[in-house]
Amino acid sequence: MSRVALITGGMGGLGEAICIKMAALGYKVVTTYSPSNNKAGDWLKQMQAQGFDFRAYPCDVADFDSCKACVDTVTQEIGAVDVLVNNAGITRDMTFKKMGKADWDVVMKTNLDSVFNMTKQVMDGMMERGWGRVVNVSSVNGQKGAFGQTNYSAAKAGMHGFTKALALEVARKGVTVNTISPGYIGTKMVMAIPQEVLDSKILPQIPQGRLGKPEEVAGLVAYLASEEAAFVTGANISINGGQHMF
Ligand code: CAA
Repeated sequence: MSRVALITGGMGGLGEAICIKMAALGYKVVTTYSPSNNKAGDWLKQMQAQGFDFRAYPCDVADFDSCKACVDTVTQEIGAVDVLVNNAGITRDMTFKKMGKADWDVVMKTNLDSVFNMTKQVMDGMMERGWGRVVNVSSVNGQKGAFGQTNYSAAKAGMHGFTKALALEVARKGVTVNTISPGYIGTKMVMAIPQEVLDSKILPQIPQGRLGKPEEVAGLVAYLASEEAAFVTGANISINGGQHMF
């Protein structure tokens, strides 16, 4: 029986590329979308037209009860989650001087609380079955900081602390927990950066001189979800065109 992969925030950007890659590898692919997203049906139809039989459920990843309801439904309708990719995330970029409490809270809740909210729903089952994979999609900006992203950088750095602690706790149960830290990838999130900032401040920092491709990140997620990656846990794998090395 094929494994179930649940990818949060799968409609677009990195999430969509991860859904496509996991489907190509034979996983049953389930994604979540924000309850306020009224284009979910259109996306599913588009994907169906391309031959992908994805399932999608509304889920506010910032809300524990919504995550519980979503994973309970997925488990009943599709099966227990074997691979969880905590991918959903947002930005509210602005200098610290301009940042208000609401801008801080929404990013922490969506990007970091979500990792607890979702992982909590699946971890007991993974441990009982003796197999599981959690991949947390962080960012180069959680590793090195970024101008205008005190909220986002803090949340993304926090993800890796979570990864390391949980990886220790579940290491003997056949479950791995890893972080990936993509750099600037050609997604809507990056395209929202003012072109002048992208050209003058960001691209010059990338030794490969280009943005990453979502498919490149999807390939790394697929590896971490695979059998071959069983000995990789608690890692934070950079994928950033050489922008940040340590
Ligand atoms: N490094 C150094 N200085 C910078 C800078 C940077 N990256 N970005 C802006 N500045 C400077 C500007 O040159 C400007 O300086 P002067 O006042 O001397 O001219 C000053 O900061 C103010 O800049 P702005 O006019 O742009 O200020 P703003 O308030 O309108 O906007 C900002 C600030 C929202 C942070 C905007 O600069 C911005 O969007 N920057 C990009 C932030 C970013 O990299 N976000 C990543 C999004 S993608 C992502 O998050 C995915 C991922 O994981 C990698």
